[in-house]
Amino acid sequence: MLISSVSILFQALLLLPLVHAYGHANACRTYCGNLTIDHPFALQSGCGHPGFRDLLFCINDVLMFHISSGSYRVLDIDYAYQSLTLHDPHLSNCDTLVLGNRGNGFVVEPWRSPYLTPTADNVFMLIGCSAESSLFQGFPGKHLPCRNVSGMGCEDYYGCQAWTGLGFSRLGSGYRSGPPECCSVPFEAIKAVNLTKLGCQGYSSAYSLAPLRVTGPDEWSYGIRVKFSVEVNRESYCKACEATGGSCGYDIDGLTGLCMCGSWNSTSNCDSGNSSL
Ligand SMILES: *[C@@H]1O[C@H](CO)[C@@H](O)[C@H](O)[C@H]1NC(C)=O
Ligand SMILES: *[C@@H]1O[C@H](CO)[C@@H](O)[C@H](O)[C@H]1NC(C)=O
Ligand SMILES: *[C@@H]1O[C@H](CO)[C@@H](O)[C@H](O)[C@H]1NC(C)=O
Ligand SMILES: *[C@@H]1O[C@H](CO)[C@@H](O)[C@H](O)[C@H]1NC(C)=O
Repeated sequence: MLISSVSILFQALLLLPLVHAYGHANACRTYCGNLTIDHPFALQSGCGHPGFRDLLFCINDVLMFHISSGSYRVLDIDYAYQSLTLHDPHLSNCDTLVLGNRGNGFVVEPWRSPYLTPTADNVFMLIGCSAESSLFQGFPGKHLPCRNVSGMGCEDYYGCQAWTGLGFSRLGSGYRSGPPECCSVPFEAIKAVNLTKLGCQGYSSAYSLAPLRVTGPDEWSYGIRVKFSVEVNRESYCKACEATGGSCGYDIDGLTGLCMCGSWNSTSNCDSGNSSL
């Protein structure tokens, strides 16, 4: 009798932290490999921000990012700087040029574009674009859209070993005889990297991890650095939700924000607000 009540009490004490934890742990936070998936991202629908729904997928501990231009591996999510780093296997780098229009480029769905955009210090280097490309239209005799971004650009990129021994006549094809073999641009200048639409054979993308200064293109970080952001009022809503032990999510039907408080959902936070049921 005594033993059983002690054991019940003991079990209750053991369970208590679990119950407590359930109510207060972030029910939406999860992991994929060694990457933490937290607001505004999520792997489950209803968690995170609706602008990031159906975006990330964890496949065998590899986090994949899926947008209209294709799938990318997520190498890193930096919550402090609100950026993520993506890898496209058909991205040219300093060792290899991938031609034949096989790369994804970078195109986001219009409804998602307010939330995701390549960072201002990410350079896209478009390779082998046709003279008819929209990239070169409206700028006769000049290549105005092509410019260095954060000290990175094609002039330096041509120094990579990937370019040696290729048929590209970099020096020969001056401005008069045709477009450059490589044109570097910030994402902002073109709004979408669609290789088909731009008439390009391939692309590379690199970003600088300021304030780190690197000397040459063999030291650049190749990949696509994407800034993510959510609305300011949504951000404060989520802070309040999380401060009261909730997980920030959204209503799957209306896509309106809700705060998940364990056994119930609140329209505001876990200390107040109406149940959204
Ligand atoms: C995560 O794992 C990958 C290899 O799977 C490794 O390259 C990377 O450095 C790791 N990142 C962290 C932050 O531990
Ligand atoms: C709370 O909302 C989430 C996301 O919409 C939903 O999956 C979950 O079932 C809801 N929970 C309750 C208790 O209604
Ligand atoms: C890229 O452009 C082509 C040709 O204009 C178009 O058919 C295709 O849908 C575009 N791709 C994306 C992801 O927008
Ligand atoms: C880019 O930088 C390189 C090296 O600093 C320079 O030679 C080149 O003229 C620059 N190109 C443009 C388009 O500004």
